[in-house]
Amino acid sequence: MQITALHRPVLINEVRDSLDIRAGMVCIDGTLGDGGHSEMMCELVGQTGLVIGIDRDPDAIPVASARLERFGSRFRAVHGNFTDIPELVRSVTDRPVDRVLLDLGWSTTQFMMRGRGFSFLTNEHLDMRFDPTESGESAADIVNEYSVGELVRIFRLYGEEPQAERIAHAIVDARLHAPITTTQQLAHVIVRVAPRHGKIHPATQVFQALRIAVNNELGVLQSACAAITDFIPHGARIGIITFHSLEDRIVKRFVQAQGAAVTALSKKPIVPTFEEVRDNPRSRSSKLRVFEKK
Ligand SMILES: C[S@@+](CC[C@H](N)C(=O)[O-])C[C@H]1O[C@@H](n2cnc3c(N)ncnc32)[C@H](O)[C@@H]1O
Repeated sequence: MQITALHRPVLINEVRDSLDIRAGMVCIDGTLGDGGHSEMMCELVGQTGLVIGIDRDPDAIPVASARLERFGSRFRAVHGNFTDIPELVRSVTDRPVDRVLLDLGWSTTQFMMRGRGFSFLTNEHLDMRFDPTESGESAADIVNEYSVGELVRIFRLYGEEPQAERIAHAIVDARLHAPITTTQQLAHVIVRVAPRHGKIHPATQVFQALRIAVNNELGVLQSACAAITDFIPHGARIGIITFHSLEDRIVKRFVQAQGAAVTALSKKPIVPTFEEVRDNPRSRSSKLRVFEKK
């Protein structure tokens, strides 16, 4: 198997410090990806600790497992959705969980290498499911079957796309001639009606919106916050790294709604340093919120 770990973990020092990971702890990395955060966790928990890495993308499991092989039984990788953390963790251990990390969105490896249709820079099938073994709709199903009104709602709500209406009409016109099945077909339709302003490619927000819709990312995050908080013991901590305001708002409101049941470690989210953004532009929009169950 070819091992191609491209992803640079964001906010890694801030995750280490705010989660305060110590020897002997049980840590859950709910978004394993290429295993960058899990590697840091494995080093900190030492020989008596345990790190369980979970990913919805089955292809992440062998890549991260190969990278973390040297940690032996200290590391376990499990394919699954982080909303099912209680069941997935119990399938591996009965030990109480001390720390949980969710680093949302896609990994650079997925984006660039796996042909999943997340990127308009290469021509790929318009799929966008994190887990292609799941039976849910693909981005192509949404683009070819949803009404103008439904497309506008998705592009506005999940992409905050100002040209949502024009783009939705252009998609519906284009699909009358031929179904839109590839990333570049869709990108061309968007570019024709929403020309580039500034540095951001005009298809960026629509692609983000489709990915969020296909994977029900906001619904999954909402239910995961509740399921994980119920599952962990008092004193355990959860860290969540978000990449856009919709996700951050869900985490912030969840913590507020818990009242005295959880304590936020800081009022404002932790953001990357100037140096991190310079060296890894993907970290630009990342925000880390950490809270402890009381
Ligand atoms: C930003 S990457 C994580 C990168 C990782 N922290 C690292 O250092 O390599 C996000 C990962 O979360 C996975 N993912 C997204 N939604 C998920 C979910 N609901 N359950 C489990 N994994 C999910 C994606 O497949 C992707 O591999």
